[in-house]
This record gives sequence, C-alpha cells and structure tokens, in this order.
Amino acid sequence: MSTEAAKLVSPHGGELIDRTGSRPDGVESLEAVILSSRELSDLEMIANGALSPLRGFLGREEYESVLESMHLASGLPWSLPVCLAVDEAPKGDRVALAGEDGRLYGVLDVSEVFDYDKKREAELCFRTTDTAHPGVARLFDQKSRYLAGEVTVFERQTPEFPELALDPVDTRAVFAERGWHRVVGFQTRNPIHRAHEYLTKVALETVDGLLIHPLVGDTKAGDISVQVRVECYRTLIECYYPADRVLVAAFPAAMRYAGPREAIWHAICRKNYGCSHFIVGRDHAGVGSYYGTYDAQMIFDEFEPHELDVEPMMFEHSFWCRRCGSMASTKTCPHGPEDRTMLSGTKVREMLAAGKVPPIEFTRPEVAEVLIKASHR
Ligand code: ADX
Repeated sequence: MSTEAAKLVSPHGGELIDRTGSRPDGVESLEAVILSSRELSDLEMIANGALSPLRGFLGREEYESVLESMHLASGLPWSLPVCLAVDEAPKGDRVALAGEDGRLYGVLDVSEVFDYDKKREAELCFRTTDTAHPGVARLFDQKSRYLAGEVTVFERQTPEFPELALDPVDTRAVFAERGWHRVVGFQTRNPIHRAHEYLTKVALETVDGLLIHPLVGDTKAGDISVQVRVECYRTLIECYYPADRVLVAAFPAAMRYAGPREAIWHAICRKNYGCSHFIVGRDHAGVGSYYGTYDAQMIFDEFEPHELDVEPMMFEHSFWCRRCGSMASTKTCPHGPEDRTMLSGTKVREMLAAGKVPPIEFTRPEVAEVLIKASHR
C-alpha cells in the first residue's frame, strides 16, 4: 500500500473484502438460484468489497443481530439485512447465482436456510408495515426463506456507465493518487439541484475531496431515470465543480427507502469506498412521510463515538433565500418562508411535465435543460 493510500480511512472491519474469483468447473450443472435485481446489486457489492466485512448473504445469527441491535454478531455496526430470498432450501451445498435472464454470476456455498418474519423485518428496518412504502412492498413480495452463505463472483455485471464503474479499490486509488486524505461522500438518487450543490460544496470547503456517488441500482417508480440523472451530473460538474476536487462514480446499490437505517448503511458503504465523511441532509433515503425530517441524522447518536469511523456531516433543510441572495438554511438565515424558494422533487416534476423551467434558484439552467429535454423524449 502506498503512503497516500495508508492515510485513507480503513474499510469497515479493517479489510476490503474481495469475493471475486475464477469460474468453477461444472458451475452450469449446479442448481441455480435466480436473484432479483436488488439481490444482484447486493451481490455485486459483496464481490467488490463495498459491503465489507460481508463475505456473503447473512445467516440467521447475523440477521437477528442486525435487526435487533444494528450490529453484526462480531459487534461491528451494520444496519440493514443483506439477504437472499428463496422458496425452498437447495438440495446441494453449493448453488449457482443467476440473474433473471439466466446469466450466471457466481456461486454460493450454502451455510443455512432459515425462515424469517416479514412483518417484523419491516417494523424494525422500515419503522412501518404499510405496503404503500416501496421497501415494505418489495419485502412483502419476496420469497419466504433466506439462503445464507459465502459467495464467489466470477462474472461481474455489465455496468451501464463503464466510466463510472469504480470499485472501492479504484476510488481509493484515485483518492491516494490525488493526495486526498479527508474525503466526503455524497449519496443521491436525484438530479443535483441547488440544495444538493450547496451541501456538497459547503462540505468540500472543509475536506480534501468530494465523491459524488449517485445510486444507480433500482429506485422506485416516479424517481428520475438513472440515464437522465447521469447526464445531469456530467453537465453540472462540468459547469460548476472543480474537476480536480471531485470524483463521480456509480454506487451500484438499490434504494431500500429505509430512511435512518439506510443512512447508516450508506455511510458504512462509502467508508469502504474510502470516504472519511458522509453527507446526511434532510430526510435522507426517506420516502413519503414515514420518517421525521432529521431521523436519519439522529440515528447516528445510537452508536458509540468512533464506532462507525465515518464522520456524518449533517445539514439542515436548505433553500434559496431571496433576501440573503444565496443558499442557506434556518441555521444561517434569519428571514421568513416568504423569502425562500423551496421546491419539492414532486413540484419540479410537475413543472417539467407542464413544460415549465424550474427557477434558477432551484436548479442550474444547464441541468434544467437536460431535464426538460428528457421530459419531452
Ligand atoms: S436520497 O434518498 O438519496 O437521500 P436525495 O438524492 O434527494 O435522496 O438526497 C441526497 C442527499 O441530500 C441526502 O443526504 C439528503 O438528505 C440531502 N438533501 C436533499 N435535499 C436537501 C435539502 N433541500 N436540504 C438539505 N439536505 C437535502
């Protein structure tokens, strides 16, 4: 390891896991388990170490420990189950892992198959059992047992954006090469509007570099497509960010919409990518009104100091204030709601659908242009 690489935050658990390997002989004749696209995203991230220290899909003891205490059995923080749902226990002790199209990606060495209670998982992870919640709906819809065991991935998934497909080992190499030690990670599933830009730039003022890390796995219906988002990120970064202080890479996870627990999980994953800091704004990874505006920040207090070893950078709800003539939050702006431009994603989607350009205080014109073009496609 170079001296620069050694100055980066250590992976969760101390070691970056690599579960890639060569294609075993006779894999075609193994019983195949078909993974959903969310499970395939998880598989990809187990393989590349984004989910270090996980080496496979969780067994019962780990699962229970994560649900009950947000820690793995080893005592390491971990907030969301990473499990593979099946109908029945496989016959053999090794199975092939396939996508819905039948393509084989890896093998799993079966350690156990166990029953789980969907309602309980929903209550503990999502704080609701309402099936209008997209994460709960997905959970209630999935198969009824969990298959656990270590995985070995011999075929990586084809990335939709090859130039953004950076594994934790790659982002760490870029950070080291650029001499960054303190790096802040930014999770997003939306185009970057002025509020997001504000958070990332305020954060960047205090660290060496910024990893813009848009989630490119499954999102819910109604969210802006990843193709359009990537076009927005490219445009915005080209026009408004210093190239030598920013790295954009794809985060292959699927959204769970688990709000607070997902914020912890997002932070841990970004630590594996080499981020010492992680941005948590208002209603991080939330959906509808299932979580309080700052629940995803407060959950960080449930861990001992330094237990997570990734520093959350927390931000109040930010907006454009016409009197201040700048982005601000209630922490920094004394003016009232009448002076503020606060638009929800839904409101912006409605404007775009009606052919209206969102105001410059909400989104950069270059980004608005990409969004408008996309809404006419
Ligand atoms: S998320 O589901 O990926 O969290 P989104 O892309 O909307 O959704 O948000 C990315 C990050 O920006 C999250 O940390 C979120 O809390 C934060 N954020 C989004 N909008 C605002 C805002 N207006 N003020 C403060 N934080 C915000």
